[in-house]
Amino acid sequence: MLRFDSVYKRFPDGTEALRNISLHVPKGQFCVVLGPSGAGKSTLLRMLNGLSQPTEGSVYLAGELISEQSVQRLRRKVATVHQQFNLTPRMSVALNVLSGALPQVTHLRAGLCLFPSSLREKACHLLDEVGLTPEHVSRRVSELSGGQQQRVGIARAFMMDPAVLLADEPVASLDPRISRGILELLHRQSRNHDTTVLCSLHQPELAREFGDRIIAVNHGRLVFDGTPEQLTDKVCEELYHGALNREHGMSETAPSASESELELAAA
Ligand SMILES: Nc1ncnc2c1ncn2[C@@H]1O[C@H](COP(=O)(O)OP(=O)(O)OP(=O)(O)O)[C@@H](O)[C@H]1O
Ligand SMILES: [Mg+2]
Repeated sequence: MLRFDSVYKRFPDGTEALRNISLHVPKGQFCVVLGPSGAGKSTLLRMLNGLSQPTEGSVYLAGELISEQSVQRLRRKVATVHQQFNLTPRMSVALNVLSGALPQVTHLRAGLCLFPSSLREKACHLLDEVGLTPEHVSRRVSELSGGQQQRVGIARAFMMDPAVLLADEPVASLDPRISRGILELLHRQSRNHDTTVLCSLHQPELAREFGDRIIAVNHGRLVFDGTPEQLTDKVCEELYHGALNREHGMSETAPSASESELELAAA
């Protein structure tokens, strides 16, 4: 479904945010992206919504080059769930969810908030799926808790039946108990809708619990790619404090989990 072929991202100031990333994420996989702050997680995700282009290499969605598709076209296929929810606080819950369908309605209809009944029904159905009750629908988003707001963000993300969902630290603004519930929901929704997910997280324990697969980046390189079981405490220690966190001396290509463990054992 998603393919990165030798992708580099260099910003004009010389920062190398991604270095030689090659990756294939099959359809329906829930792939968690770990890495310390500044590692390149958000840059990696942004390669998929057309808002940032690789300096070198190619990124494909369902066999089509992302760089050859307009942002408008990509919006129909790639949805995003944000750390800060990115909702419109003064608007109602219903309108925030419906705004997820904007790529599908005319500017005039959107400006007048005239959404077809099929979309309104879909929004209600999605709100039900994410655990919000009918009494929430007409409330302003600003009257909801952070966890409830992220539920609205998730409902909005599924309005277009996206092939791909990007979740960039979706629980970083929430307390740990709420975080687990939100990730459970994201996982369940992506399973039910057969959506491929790239989800960046800072908590290895949540990555193990919810990821079908875990990758880790650091200094723009892929430094780990394995299953939740392969993400041992030792690998995490190395990722955040040890060899996998050092800029130099890493291999150009990502080691598989077993190779990483060999590297770690040798360290
Ligand atoms: N527009 C930009 N111009 C220059 N450098 C940038 C730009 N955007 C990101 N960077 C740099 O690219 C590197 C990767 O940034 P990125 O935001 O992808 O990291 P991250 O892993 O998402 O970090 P965090 O966990 O803090 O969100 C960092 O060194 C960052 O400073
Ligand atoms: Mg980030």
